[in-house]
Amino acid sequence: MKAIMQLREVDKSFGGVHAIDHLSFDIYEGEILGLIGPNGAGKSTCVNLIAGVYALDSGVILFNGERLSRQSIPDRAFMGIGRTFQSPKPFEGLSVRDSVFTAALLYNKRRRDAEKATDDILELTDFAAIRDLPCAKLPIEKRKWLDMARVLAIRPKLLMLDECLAGLTPTEMDESLALVKRISGTGVTILFIEHVMSAVTKLCTRVVVLNEGTLLSQGAPLTVMREKAVIKAYLGEDYEYVED
Ligand SMILES: Nc1ncnc2c1ncn2[C@@H]1O[C@H](COP(=O)(O)OP(=O)(O)OP(=O)(O)O)[C@@H](O)[C@H]1O
Ligand SMILES: [Mg+2]
Repeated sequence: MKAIMQLREVDKSFGGVHAIDHLSFDIYEGEILGLIGPNGAGKSTCVNLIAGVYALDSGVILFNGERLSRQSIPDRAFMGIGRTFQSPKPFEGLSVRDSVFTAALLYNKRRRDAEKATDDILELTDFAAIRDLPCAKLPIEKRKWLDMARVLAIRPKLLMLDECLAGLTPTEMDESLALVKRISGTGVTILFIEHVMSAVTKLCTRVVVLNEGTLLSQGAPLTVMREKAVIKAYLGEDYEYVED
């Protein structure tokens, strides 16, 4: 399997907080990799290091074999590194369609291509029927979808989804999982950060577990979730996985 992203001995501290501590793991091309672990484990920090929001203290991150160091956030987006945020960030003043189109204009030389890309994305993300709705009127679950739709305009090779299911009802969650699967089906590699374990087991073939900035375990979701260390640090002693 080919690694699209490789983290090697990555370190990041914020003042006295050692958020990421000698962390190494790979994301393989085409997979949906789950990134799980307790609050404060360093999951969002990983996303921010890969996206270029924070600089590494030490270590190496390779994207398709190329070292990421001085590239800015937009440079990395142009390379195909996409992410959504734990809290959605809509362009409040724009319609659904124009939010995606604004992003598409940056990533397509010709207006016609940007229009076509926008239409395709609105179709894939089920926004076609409400394309003219102002973003400010979207319900919360659709705001997360809009973040996903907008980032698709950069034609990501790797898409990092930071808790895109938080706060959703079970039905909305299932619809969102189906959307992530559709996105994955278009060939996008996905890093999926989530606390809802049933969602992780449904979607991911592999998970990486972080705890206090270090790699606690990695492997198949159901195998990892039965490990004592993972239960102790994250899932809790009373945890029992139930298929829903
Ligand atoms: N910009 C920052 N400044 C200071 N400390 C930070 C910053 N970002 C993260 N941290 C700290 O780094 C640690 C890891 O935080 P991070 O947000 O990566 O955790 P997380 O795994 O995403 O948690 P959650 O599941 O709650 O989202 C925490 O102790 C957090 O307080
Ligand atoms: Mg987080």
